[in-house]
Amino acid sequence: EKGDFEHYMLKEIFEQPDTIRDTYRGRIRKDQDDIVLGGLIDVFPKIVEANRIIILGCGTSWHAALVAEYLIEEYARVPVEVEYASEFRYRKPIINPGDVVIAISQSGETADTLAALKMAKEQGALILGICNVVGSSIARLTDAGVYTHAGAEIGVASTKAFTAQVTVLTLFAFKLAKERGKIDADTLKMFIGEMLAIPGKVESILLKHPHIKAVAEKYKDAVNALYLGRGYLFPVALEGALKLKEISYMHAEGYAAGEMKHGPIALVDDNLPVVVVSAKDDYYEKVVSNIQEVKARKGNIIAVVAEGDNGLRSMADDLFEVPESHPAVASLLTVVPLQLFAYYIALMRGCDVDQPRNLAKSVTVE
Ligand code: F6R
Repeated sequence: EKGDFEHYMLKEIFEQPDTIRDTYRGRIRKDQDDIVLGGLIDVFPKIVEANRIIILGCGTSWHAALVAEYLIEEYARVPVEVEYASEFRYRKPIINPGDVVIAISQSGETADTLAALKMAKEQGALILGICNVVGSSIARLTDAGVYTHAGAEIGVASTKAFTAQVTVLTLFAFKLAKERGKIDADTLKMFIGEMLAIPGKVESILLKHPHIKAVAEKYKDAVNALYLGRGYLFPVALEGALKLKEISYMHAEGYAAGEMKHGPIALVDDNLPVVVVSAKDDYYEKVVSNIQEVKARKGNIIAVVAEGDNGLRSMADDLFEVPESHPAVASLLTVVPLQLFAYYIALMRGCDVDQPRNLAKSVTVE
């Protein structure tokens, strides 16, 4: 089943051009001028009227939710709150009838997410699910939902499920923006074009795996690693760090780059790899200054950059280049080299990549 791949995780990383395409296929109209989310058609009028959207998840699914928060607030202009299901379910949150609660879960069986959703349902919210496993508990509980069509994910570390979740959430955000009259037809078309270009761009990133492996070799013995990003790439920093720590057991922290000077900068020395996730977005100059701060303290910079970004090229110790894209979809590209980086480091450290210690594929207990 793994075919030519040594591990499921590697196979699943390499499947992403197909799984992203499978996830948007049939949801983009032939003329590429509209998005159709079949599972949400009946409830969409309610979603358009929502006062607030609350998105719940755990782990990697929570990271996908964060990307959605940025997308929905920027383009559809609906207030969004993202929360760990495990916190939400116990802290007596305020849920109003006009709220829409969306759960994100690959397995559809995560106990905390399921319990949080039940609570929201009891309190009168419309509850939606974005799940990968068809017929799973969350998919059955929700009023409506959208499946990610990533196929079975066997590796414990989530990879293709994350990019499929972000794909669905991106379609959802732009559909909502359109239905709320917040973006015009040309802008929608432009974003649809951006989405259609993602699989080919992921393909080109995957071709660079020998380079990513060589960089992993350089850093495999580090004790700590810091991942920084801003805006749409802040969740990617969190996700990159989670991938590394869960499969290689190297301590890694993801941080919003602007927070670096409020604490984590104290960690920087010549043994610390700092992965900086960047794009040609509004934050570019700020990211440049973050890198200068790390370099001034002799930290090692591994920069994820858009191709042709010669500015960061001269400042970074190592580069993972990804094709250019609109910043709003850049998470789908920039996460891929970080998945591979974590994979190769774990492999070189002799870890069981597909079955990391202490972890289960689906967390059906609290
Ligand atoms: C990380 C990972 C976990 C899951 C989390 C939620 O690689 O796989 O953090 O993302 O346990 O699982 P689901 O999405 O099945 O609810």
